Amino acid sequence: MSNTESAHGMWSSKLMFILAAAGSAVGLGNIWRFPYLAGENGGGVFVLAYLVCIFLIGVPILAAEILLGRAGRQSPINSMRNLARQSGTSSFWQLIGWMGALAGFMILSFYAVIAGWAMSYIVEMASGNFVGTDANRASQVFGEFTADAVSVVGWHTLFMALTIYIAARGVGRGLETTVRYLMPALFVLLLMLVFYSALATGHFKEGLMFLFSPDLDAFSTDSLLVAMGQAFFTLSLGMGAIMAYGAYMPKDTSIIGTATTIALLDTSVALLSGMIIFPLVFANGLQPSEGPGLMFITLPIAFGQMPGGQIFGALFFVLVSFAAITSSISLMEPAVAWVVEKLAVTRAKGAVLVGIIAWFVGLGSAFSFNIGADFTLLSGMTFFDTMDYLSNNILLPLGGMLIAIFAGWFLKDQIVEDELAGDKAWSNLWRVITRFVAPTGVMVVFVMTFL
Ligand code: PFF
Repeated sequence: MSNTESAHGMWSSKLMFILAAAGSAVGLGNIWRFPYLAGENGGGVFVLAYLVCIFLIGVPILAAEILLGRAGRQSPINSMRNLARQSGTSSFWQLIGWMGALAGFMILSFYAVIAGWAMSYIVEMASGNFVGTDANRASQVFGEFTADAVSVVGWHTLFMALTIYIAARGVGRGLETTVRYLMPALFVLLLMLVFYSALATGHFKEGLMFLFSPDLDAFSTDSLLVAMGQAFFTLSLGMGAIMAYGAYMPKDTSIIGTATTIALLDTSVALLSGMIIFPLVFANGLQPSEGPGLMFITLPIAFGQMPGGQIFGALFFVLVSFAAITSSISLMEPAVAWVVEKLAVTRAKGAVLVGIIAWFVGLGSAFSFNIGADFTLLSGMTFFDTMDYLSNNILLPLGGMLIAIFAGWFLKDQIVEDELAGDKAWSNLWRVITRFVAPTGVMVVFVMTFL
């Protein structure tokens, strides 16, 4: 296998890689999960911990994943096996690929459910159901919808089918085409809504204060773990998604520069989402600690009161759904690429196989808000909460730590030098951080939380 191309396909340019990786990174994690976690974990102090994790630990690991993917040019499982072999080290490192595939299934299982909620809100918005709505009604509609197992599973199934369809069409025709148009559109709509929150809610300042002024008393070591987990989740790190995408990246582009751009884009979308949602929370007497329903309750209120909100609201949820799709495809990619390599089947068959398994596991999360709400797994958590907790707070940081250790200490020097040829100025700093800072950072958070 030549090292300049992947058998699975290639991004047509550096920009397309950035859009695809940003498409993976920007998703429900930014618009839905970040605001509600910030709301539950004390606002500003959580945001601060999150930003430190993103730039100190996240960016270097992001670069490491791209590097490993591009050097391997295969599915993460096989890339890791080959790179370990070429570096003359143990095949243990292949575990990174396997753990990643497991985390991918767990995340996709609940991700597709929430994305299904977002899709159903396209219809709710467009039908005018939220015109003039207030906080009570918005909460009530959300509660009734999630309690309806049949419709939740219906939307979950539709979202999964779309994900499979795009993944099946391949890197160029499926993914690249999707991200090329949707990512810029998403930015425009987000900015529009920030203006709405700033001008129309009368509580913009309160929202900003909540997000940006750290109240140290509100913080606990548990929230530190959540902030770190969110940093990994939002950058799509620690499970091989970015590694899989890196395998399709053209050879002559800078890795560290690209990783930084992706992180900046991703962080801006999260902060903008917070700046949209919190002013609405305060203006409507809602609690920031509303939980997973936060976005689904606040945005309908805003759109319900805005001129043209019926259309813009529907459009916004179209874009949330597409932001979710460009992420869910990347969640499937490590497993799809591996199935194609291992079983020598077409991409379409690989995508269907992986998608059906993830769909099935997802039923557990779909039922966590209705008929399965009383079924608990890990210390009183529902199936949904358990998948979320184990994958994001444990598997992703652990995977990221192993990736940093492998790339920093065990990967053959020649490979690192080749891949970082375009990043001379930063490569030493990257080395120090991947060797020492990132692994220690993850370890310290784990120890603080579990001791
Ligand atoms: N980064 C995505 C988001 O913020 O919505 C979620 C995600 C995608 C996590 C891909 C992990 C992953 F591999």
